[in-house]
Amino acid sequence: MIRFSKAVSSLRTSEIRDLMGLAIRPDIISFAGGMPGNELFPVDEIDEIYNHLPLDIKQTAFQYGPTPGYPPLLESLKEYLKKKGMPVETNNLMITTGSLQAINILGKVFIDPEDTVVTENPCFIGGISAFKSYQANIHGIDLNEDGIDVPSLKASLDRNKSVPPKFLYITPNFHNPAGTLYTEQRKKELVPVLKEHDLPLIEDDAYGELYFDEEARKRVVPMKTLYENELTICYTGTFSKILGPGFRLGWMLVPPEIYQKAELVKQSMDACSPNFTQVLANEFLRSGKMEKYIERMRVIYKRRKDTMAAAIRKYFPDEITWNEPRGGFYIWLKLPPQLDIMTVLKRSIEKGAVFVVGKTFDPEGKDNSHFRLAYSHTPEEKIEKGIQILGDALREALTVVK
Ligand SMILES: Cc1ncc(COP(=O)(O)O)c(C=O)c1O
Repeated sequence: MIRFSKAVSSLRTSEIRDLMGLAIRPDIISFAGGMPGNELFPVDEIDEIYNHLPLDIKQTAFQYGPTPGYPPLLESLKEYLKKKGMPVETNNLMITTGSLQAINILGKVFIDPEDTVVTENPCFIGGISAFKSYQANIHGIDLNEDGIDVPSLKASLDRNKSVPPKFLYITPNFHNPAGTLYTEQRKKELVPVLKEHDLPLIEDDAYGELYFDEEARKRVVPMKTLYENELTICYTGTFSKILGPGFRLGWMLVPPEIYQKAELVKQSMDACSPNFTQVLANEFLRSGKMEKYIERMRVIYKRRKDTMAAAIRKYFPDEITWNEPRGGFYIWLKLPPQLDIMTVLKRSIEKGAVFVVGKTFDPEGKDNSHFRLAYSHTPEEKIEKGIQILGDALREALTVVK
């Protein structure tokens, strides 16, 4: 018998990954994958960038690079983050292979087997799997409309003072899957609780650039910017949602002490992130093309969100409740208690639309009272059709239970 490690034995397959197979079937309208639409990628801009690179830079692109990242990209990203008020001078920046690797590295830096870490519930599935792979016990704290439930967090930390968790992991901007944008007040309320319990924060900002309105723009300011002097904050970001996940490029901005450990971990994982895509991302960022591209994407994703929201109002039964997101990729919907989402999913796939069930994002893998729809990947004309299909599946399932 093959003797697997305890760490891999505790991993379960992600329903997102399983459903990806279906998501690429041409006849299915997919609201499953949290990714940009293929037709939105800046292919021409990247073609042009590559074709105009000097030979020596092209050769560098094919080569291994330094573990912390391609130096020109580190510089241009630093400038970019500095413009947003991020504390780039007192922290260290590292390029990672997607921000999932940044989260994974931080997991490895902090977690010993059986340690507890705290996350939101629901939580990004990649975070759950990364922390589980180091055999952490994950304690999920409910997320509501304004952010993580601070009284519950405080009560849990007070109760478990003898075995304090290693960190809190949150996604304050356009949460995956919940779409939540933290209020300023909620971020402020978190500070004394984290301080009292000396709890480091991992702040995942994968979607902060993709706001849809002015108020949302004002609210996406990272805690790393606001509370740098009061808390230990490890900030992660990614090019995946603002350039392309295929680049596999993300970053972490962390205090020097943590950076030293993280660099050792990255050395042992992959030595360096792809130089090829770092060279291209650097030119994209440095030339100002990225900012223009993101501006265009905000308009397109907002239109997709508006289309999906209008279709939900038109086709879904009133028993399904949800909040309209102000940015990002997702709408998170709550089912009435009697409805079984697996029945709805099966029916919906038969009819031609797919989405992700809620328990995928529950650290305990149990709570199936919600489901997630991603509007980012689907052109508007298909969104309305897919929502109609899903609405039919929901109504049928409701009629059966009534
Ligand atoms: C909240 C969140 N964080 C991190 C990631 C990781 O993205 P990547 O590894 O492509 O940077 C994702 C991807 O879906 C995400 O939704």
